[in-house]
Amino acid sequence: MRHILIIGIGAGNPEHITVQAINALNRADVLFIPTKGAKRSELAELRREICARYVTRADSRTIEFAVPVRRTEGRAYIESVDDWHASIAATYEALLESELADGQTGAFLVWGDPMLYDSTIRIVERVKARGRIGFGFDVIPGITSLQALCASHRIPLNLVGKPVEITTGRRLAESFPHRCETAVVMLDGEQAFQKIEDPDAEIYWGAYLGSPEEIVISGRLADVKEEILKTRAAARERVGWIMDIYLLRKGADFDE
Ligand SMILES: C[S@@+](CC[C@H](N)C(=O)[O-])C[C@H]1O[C@@H](n2cnc3c(N)ncnc32)[C@H](O)[C@@H]1O
Repeated sequence: MRHILIIGIGAGNPEHITVQAINALNRADVLFIPTKGAKRSELAELRREICARYVTRADSRTIEFAVPVRRTEGRAYIESVDDWHASIAATYEALLESELADGQTGAFLVWGDPMLYDSTIRIVERVKARGRIGFGFDVIPGITSLQALCASHRIPLNLVGKPVEITTGRRLAESFPHRCETAVVMLDGEQAFQKIEDPDAEIYWGAYLGSPEEIVISGRLADVKEEILKTRAAARERVGWIMDIYLLRKGADFDE
């Protein structure tokens, strides 16, 4: 039977990788690296750098593959994601069939941690459910961008004894500040923080965390909102793409 390792590689710094992940990389006969097109070539580059730095066995192969692009036109969000996952599952299935022999181990290198806003686990489950290829799989955790954000700002994620909500820009208005005192926002293409008017809200924002381009800004949301918007737009222009994440907070430890 084939075996798959879904390995979290950290969120941008090659030193995020764990010893468990390094050992897993060296168990793999084939390393699968997604390339997302020219704009995001730095992300594929980090995966290549990690393999070059940490893979010590000489006989493993690296296979790069193009990730299908999500098509949104004429579809509701859920439908478009479902179609997208189906086409990635077909890509994975074809890769496993053609590149991984029975008895071999293949590794998918996943940005950050595979459990957080990443669909590799559910896509691998889909491939398994299709039943054409038999395999087992394991997940190796990684450092998430959320951990990198808190570390760079030197803050704890939660207030003492309080919950945290992790959400997307699209859904931020549903949660913060009325439903939770700490919200973490990922995958925000619309800079949803700019619509939050609460005078007590604070923001901890970070882009390109862990990489040499890292930028962090924090402060009272009303005071730093414009600075973040300007900095983000300029960085995006300069680098050609951006990945950012932020934490919004209202309240303090021991408030009831
Ligand atoms: C598809 S999700 C993947 C998250 C990843 N699995 C993790 O554990 O961080 C991509 C989102 O993660 C966040 N992200 C990932 N890496 C980042 C980084 N180095 N700096 C800032 N944000 C990052 C951004 O919000 C981005 O839109």
